[in-house]
Amino acid sequence: MEASPDYAVQMHGIVKRFGKFTALDHVDLDVRKQTVHAILGENGAGKTTLMNILYGLYQADEGQVFLNGSKVDIASPTDAIGMGIGMVHQHFMLVENFTVTENIILGDEVCGAVGILDMRRAREKVVELVNEYGFDVDPDAKIQDISVGMQQRVEILKALYRGAEILILDEPTAVLTPQEIDKLIEIMNDLVSKGKTIIIITHKLKEIMRSSHECSIIRRGVYMGTVDVAKSSETDLAARMVGRNVNLKVDKTPAHPGKVMLSVRDLTVCDERGIEQVRGLNLDVRAGEIVGIAGIDGNGQQELIDAITCLARSKSGTITVSEEQVQNTSPRNVFEHSVATIPSDRHRWGLVLPMMVSENTVLERHNEEMFGKGIMLDYDMLRTYTTGLIEQFDIRPSGCEDERMSGLSGGNQQKAIIAREVSYVPDILIAFQPTRGLDVGAIEFVHKTLIAERDRGAAILLVSYELDEVMDVSDTIAVLYHGKIVGTFEQGTVDEEQLGLLMAGGELQ
Ligand SMILES: Nc1ncnc2c1ncn2[C@@H]1O[C@H](COP(=O)(O)OP(=O)(O)O)[C@@H](O)[C@H]1O
Ligand SMILES: [Mg+2]
Repeated sequence: MEASPDYAVQMHGIVKRFGKFTALDHVDLDVRKQTVHAILGENGAGKTTLMNILYGLYQADEGQVFLNGSKVDIASPTDAIGMGIGMVHQHFMLVENFTVTENIILGDEVCGAVGILDMRRAREKVVELVNEYGFDVDPDAKIQDISVGMQQRVEILKALYRGAEILILDEPTAVLTPQEIDKLIEIMNDLVSKGKTIIIITHKLKEIMRSSHECSIIRRGVYMGTVDVAKSSETDLAARMVGRNVNLKVDKTPAHPGKVMLSVRDLTVCDERGIEQVRGLNLDVRAGEIVGIAGIDGNGQQELIDAITCLARSKSGTITVSEEQVQNTSPRNVFEHSVATIPSDRHRWGLVLPMMVSENTVLERHNEEMFGKGIMLDYDMLRTYTTGLIEQFDIRPSGCEDERMSGLSGGNQQKAIIAREVSYVPDILIAFQPTRGLDVGAIEFVHKTLIAERDRGAAILLVSYELDEVMDVSDTIAVLYHGKIVGTFEQGTVDEEQLGLLMAGGELQ
């Protein structure tokens, strides 16, 4: 495509290498002025890298960038900001104990005549922006006191304050409630109607359908084309993203719950600072059912899981597993009561990255006879066993099974953890954010596995910050707010709106 002033951004033939690895292989991006343009791709496809190039954080090895039809060189974020490009990163970069205004002007202080920061003038400008875009943000509030959705608006304000005409949002909805996502989409529409151009990176198809005009797809660093969203569908986008048809619907039959396998009563758990994060929580999970916990990050999910798995002390209350109390015993004891765990942070808890794939598949099982030759691991036995799991779970290491875990992609690492945990044939399976950071193809696999485990008769506790996941996979949905279960519903008897309300501390009519 020719460079043209009808396009706010054009990136042509972009190549970016990291050492021997080619992250972007001649990628094109043509973003029409005054539109919302989505960039879709699996994890690791190169989306953030492409935008980091546009924002001047990385330099492309080949290719050209045009803004409004003119070729530009963007050597740094300062250059990018000077050319009217703003970027809101995946992880916010705000200072917690500074106010909204202080954060917005940080690094861009308006200096008075004697070089003293003119806070009043800056604050006025912030108030003007807040009003102009209907942002509902208090300029004097401290960042630590406002919701994640508001923090994101502060990041957007920060870009607008610096005169951004082109706004890049990297995975902006990952941390938001449904209501906050609605608000963000409203803001994006409003910005576009006021002349801005927005590039949104996401792997959430539903949000692309709702927010974007066009969508460019990148698959493993290769540009797969741009589609008119109005003429596309979620299924079409998913297929283009992963290169095959994916089943977006979670297929399952009704649950046949048996007896209660996991029972939590009046549980209270404190965090490291001694603050109660779980406050008198009650929960039952029966054999053959999936209980999903819906809730926003930080409402006690981590502490609940840590208490059940005995990684954290329970202050009071009981946790009963197969009719035996296990609270405040040991992770080993819980494991021996047939509880398997898919942890939320696979790097911290799930895998030992420098170890081999095969060693990782038997972590926690080292003392089982099958793999033991005295105190040494029997590597031949291990290799045969690993090869079986690799086939069964379609784990795709690039080389042989002697490969180190760190060489696997996120999706394959997660499959390796799930393979390990499921191979224990547990009575109870705890899945904490099991699809975090995975693409739709891998998500489909994880969901199928959870349902297969349920159908085998396992009791499954799913804790996820992805509301769609909880709604699609769970037989029973429990809403966690402020350390308590504030509502429990059979699947299909509650909608997203109602759950969102409870998750935000509201009440149903
Ligand atoms: N600074 C870097 N050094 C080495 N490799 C990188 C760097 N940044 C990104 N990569 C690699 O480039 C690929 C694309 O990454 P990224 O652009 O972050 O993907 P996405 O945003 O689509 O999930 C990944 O394989 C990633 O590991
Ligand atoms: Mg990214």
